[in-house]
Amino acid sequence: MEVRLSQDNSESCERVSGGRCGYVIFGASGDLSQRKLLPSVFSLCRTKRVAAEFFIVGYARSAMDDAAFRIKVREAIRQVDAGIAESEIEAFAQKCFYVSGGYDQDDGYQALKARTAELDAAFATGGNLVFHVATPPPLYAGIVAGLGKNGLLKRHQNDAPFQRVIVEKPFGRDFESAERLNNDLLEYLAEEQLYRIDHYLGKETVQNILMFRFANPIFEPAWNSAYIDQVQITVAESLGVEHRAGYFEQAGLLRDMFQNHLLQLAALVGMEPPVSLDSENIRDEKVKFMKSIRPFDLDNLPAQMVRGQYGPGVIAGHEVRGYREEAGVSPSSCTETYFAMKLSIDNWRWHGVPFYLRAGKRLERKLTRIAVVFKKAAYGLFAGNKSVESAPAPNVLVFDIQPRQGLSLAVQAKVPGVRMCLAPVRMDFNYRDVYGSEMDEDYSTLILDCIRGDQSLYWRRDGVQASWRLLTPALRDSGTCSLGGASGPMDMLEIYPAGSWGPTAGERLLEKDGRQWLEPSLGNT
Ligand code: BG6
Repeated sequence: MEVRLSQDNSESCERVSGGRCGYVIFGASGDLSQRKLLPSVFSLCRTKRVAAEFFIVGYARSAMDDAAFRIKVREAIRQVDAGIAESEIEAFAQKCFYVSGGYDQDDGYQALKARTAELDAAFATGGNLVFHVATPPPLYAGIVAGLGKNGLLKRHQNDAPFQRVIVEKPFGRDFESAERLNNDLLEYLAEEQLYRIDHYLGKETVQNILMFRFANPIFEPAWNSAYIDQVQITVAESLGVEHRAGYFEQAGLLRDMFQNHLLQLAALVGMEPPVSLDSENIRDEKVKFMKSIRPFDLDNLPAQMVRGQYGPGVIAGHEVRGYREEAGVSPSSCTETYFAMKLSIDNWRWHGVPFYLRAGKRLERKLTRIAVVFKKAAYGLFAGNKSVESAPAPNVLVFDIQPRQGLSLAVQAKVPGVRMCLAPVRMDFNYRDVYGSEMDEDYSTLILDCIRGDQSLYWRRDGVQASWRLLTPALRDSGTCSLGGASGPMDMLEIYPAGSWGPTAGERLLEKDGRQWLEPSLGNT
């Protein structure tokens, strides 16, 4: 069963554009800049979503001149789409410049200041600047201090000319360090100038969650504990730690994925309707939701969460190494690459509805999905009726975030024939079918929002505080762990085979509540 949407509205839904400005990338020779930032800014320029008065400056320690940086720029764009016309790449490359400098020396910031002033005059960008801090986290505070002390950043200058700073994740390692970082950054910036990024919020399918909930009022009366049995959020990756062992060994999956992406997804499903779509109102409601998550019972953590680490296994027919054998990983590492938890929400809407969250690396395949599982139909109507051959399954609303992008609603229908058989069928919306190709615009959306001064899709300080306050007690940095199953102490780490769906303890987390993870193959079309 398929529901087709009319495209009429989308055609009149014009793309918004950002005004003139300079965009400076700190960490410009790094991986994030190459894989995401440069291609995203290219896409903004190519589709004219930023003004023609726009320039890019890469800043990093590596010694490079403009010409060498432009070679990297061209490579970055071709990597994403080999079919783009050379003339378009060239036009973009001519807007790209490079300044080489340290992160803790005034010389570098002074050189940057002189260069941006020169480019501001040449490109008529009106003194507007966005600084994107995409370096390793220990450098964040020093960079913002360097900008502030060298006169590149003026506090409370959000309107013309504006100076705004995008800070990458992870934002802190725990509650204390995140607060320290907040204090350090806010010494030179006003909250309105600080854009704490979470690239999941830039995904179209993630933005669609709020639109779906609040623009389709038929769901709102059922969006509560009277009708919903549970919410499941899965963020599975088939990739392993890749070349990021240095970072990942220190972070672990709980910090890497839950503090930001998974809690944001949970908040979008669980928050109350905001007063308006204004950024402050949206973020107020998200923070209220996060504050209503019940703190973990510290005496009983293993009943609420599961830690795992991938061992050797097979993914898509290829043998892959275990985490402890990866380059840069300690052979006795206790870092988790899988985490699952059960959240209880103490508010009127969600009391008694568990939110189960799981994320892991080297799982069977990439899958980011939210499933809202409704309660089953009234028992009495179908039970005991001999002609009903199968018990009705619950309605399930699935938000497919990636790689499939869309949503589906499973409903019960009678199987044709004389007998009374029920079977679940799906009403299905796939972005690809309606809007053409797959979308991967997360960073473009977020960078454009920053240029436009819209903070809706960025974390606010109180949101960061609320998420770290919840998770900090569950962090384990002791460096020791015991291997085994679910019910041991919290330093218990279960090794799961790469290519599986994670530790068996992850299954038991739901089984003890009489539930199970939804079949990952559901809606695999
Ligand atoms: C990042 C994490 O924030 O998100 C990575 O640091 C992870 O470890 C990545 O691989 C996943 O992002 P996406 O968009 O591919 O789901």
